[in-house]
Amino acid sequence: MDLEHIVSEAQRAFAAALDAASLENEKARFLGKSGQLTELLKGLGKLDAEQRKAEGARINAAKQQVEAALQARRQALNDELMNVRLAAEAIDVTLPGRGQSRGTLHPVLTTWERVEKIFHSIGFDVADGPEIETDWYNFTALNSPENHPARSMQDTFYVDGSDETGKPLLLRTHTSPMQVRYARMHRPPIKVIAPGRTYRVDSDATHSPMFHQVEGLWIDENISFADLKGVYTDFLRQFFERDDIRVRFRPSYFPFTEPSAEIDMTFETGKNAGKWLEISGSGQVHPNVVRNMGLDPERYIGFAFGSGLERLAMLRYGVDDLRLFYENDLRFLRQFA
Ligand code: DAH
Repeated sequence: MDLEHIVSEAQRAFAAALDAASLENEKARFLGKSGQLTELLKGLGKLDAEQRKAEGARINAAKQQVEAALQARRQALNDELMNVRLAAEAIDVTLPGRGQSRGTLHPVLTTWERVEKIFHSIGFDVADGPEIETDWYNFTALNSPENHPARSMQDTFYVDGSDETGKPLLLRTHTSPMQVRYARMHRPPIKVIAPGRTYRVDSDATHSPMFHQVEGLWIDENISFADLKGVYTDFLRQFFERDDIRVRFRPSYFPFTEPSAEIDMTFETGKNAGKWLEISGSGQVHPNVVRNMGLDPERYIGFAFGSGLERLAMLRYGVDDLRLFYENDLRFLRQFA
């Protein structure tokens, strides 16, 4: 067999192999156990010493050429594979990062913070209280003793556990218990708001089982409805960033105030000019409540109010269904970002 022919045949076969597997197959034809060069080497035994030496050297030189061709082709196929992978996995390190979207405050929370800021700026302390409340603070201390009919308007959720008198604990139905809690820990003059979560067995377009209120309380020796009207009107003007707001009191009833009033407001100009909107309950703190605060009702007098934060948010942002606040629809929430 012509060694040169074998070498060129191997070079041609290796070059024609398009992947590693077929290359290794081709290798077997020349260098494998019964490959052409292996067979030639096996045949050397039949030659005499002189010839064996010369022929052996020739075959080994051919073998080295074939091995070199094989190695070169292996390298070329590897390089090709690597180039394909590099192209497929290429990344542009100069592209800007994708970034994490951060989320924003919920519109009710934005409203909560806004209310705090405004009242703080007109001299009110801001207090925080428990959402799980005792029967006494939520009802009795606020002049709604057991079996009082006003209790039925505020059906609530009861939770495991009881207070020291054995009465079950409940989710507070309003922020009003904070009036008594705060007043028992501070000396007059008392000027405070207490925003927070509240709960009731109630659910429709304008009621949610969980909602938010802000309570206000001002107790001193000589506080009147005129002060309430001044403070609340001032608050509304800052809250809505409008001066054309008018406020009126409409007689109402709450067990913990006497007299009691609904606060209505109207914008004097614009789309709904002249339309009165109910915005808050209010009243002069009932003497029984002042007593439960640990104060003498002959000496101390004042007013309280309780407003819904959702209601304020709805009016400020023009939202017409309370439930939108709690559906967690990002298309809705993003509008307030
Ligand atoms: N707590 C009342 C409610 O949830 C609201 C309220 C009315 C609070 C009159 C007050 C008030 O402080 O004086 O319906």
